[in-house]
Amino acid sequence: MKRLMWSAALLGLLLGCGGEEKKSAADFGEELFHDARLSESTFNRFSCATCHVTTPQAPAERIDSGYSLYNVASRPSWWGGNETRLLDSVNFCYVNFMRGVTKLEPDDPMSRSLYEYLVRLSPDAQAAALPFTIVKDINEVARGDAGRGATVYRAACQTCHGELHTGKGRLTELASILPEVTKDYGTVFPGVPKSKVVIEKVRHGQFFGVGGNMPPYSTEALSDADLGAVLSYLEL
Ligand code: HEC
Ligand code: HEC
Repeated sequence: MKRLMWSAALLGLLLGCGGEEKKSAADFGEELFHDARLSESTFNRFSCATCHVTTPQAPAERIDSGYSLYNVASRPSWWGGNETRLLDSVNFCYVNFMRGVTKLEPDDPMSRSLYEYLVRLSPDAQAAALPFTIVKDINEVARGDAGRGATVYRAACQTCHGELHTGKGRLTELASILPEVTKDYGTVFPGVPKSKVVIEKVRHGQFFGVGGNMPPYSTEALSDADLGAVLSYLEL
């Protein structure tokens, strides 16, 4: 239903009717990129911009699970070589993280607009494919400096989870309050250190049977050193 509304709005914009200023497909794609309503799920609060910047370098205050999408359309493959079609790469995020129910189809005006926007973000003819290393077996990481951990928490976790202990400012109530949520881990995951459950969640996100829709952090996105610093900050 929501998808239909967007399509109607899009057509209106492209045709320039309804007294609206005429927008290019790329402009409309840019809006979709920043709007959680791209997903038809009423539970979704994530937009593409929640996890991806579009500048060549990410600003210091952001550590994202997803790469910058600057030059994304010029890369030969995506998701560490696992995807060879750009739309499939987008749909992976759309379905798994944004709770999208039906994949974006190639001829959908919304996909086309998003595509035009991604092309506009890609000025170079060619760009290198980027590595994506998932930690397979979960092991403890060395703890780091809690001060550094606070900085990393703000850059990597706070947008979604809000402030420590209260969740103040979190993006969605579905994002657990940290570290309070770990209090029950002893009963839910008997014999497993709490820190290991958190490492598992951060490294695998919704994968490996953990459920949910949090994205996984590759070692390129978040180093073990920074993860160890966050654990110190969480006092785990
Ligand atoms: C909750 C976080 C999240 C959201 C929301 C999200 N992505 Fe992603 N995306 C990721 C992660 C994690 C990866 C894997 C690392 C990477 O390749 O950037 C990824 C990968 C990608 C890639 C492949 C990049 C590459 O070179 O490997 C593209 C393209 C992409 N996302 C586009 C999108 C678009 C467009 C949207 C919105 C429709 C979106 N993503 C929403 C987290 C997210
Ligand atoms: C894009 C938003 C987003 C980001 C960024 C994010 N999370 Fe999450 N996280 C969620 C959501 C939503 C949930 C609840 C749903 C689920 O389990 O996937 C969650 C769940 C969790 C849980 C499991 C809680 C439970 O129910 O047991 C842990 C632990 C966690 N996150 C830690 C982190 C840490 C640490 C970071 C930063 C390194 C982080 N998250 C970054 C969205 C996010």
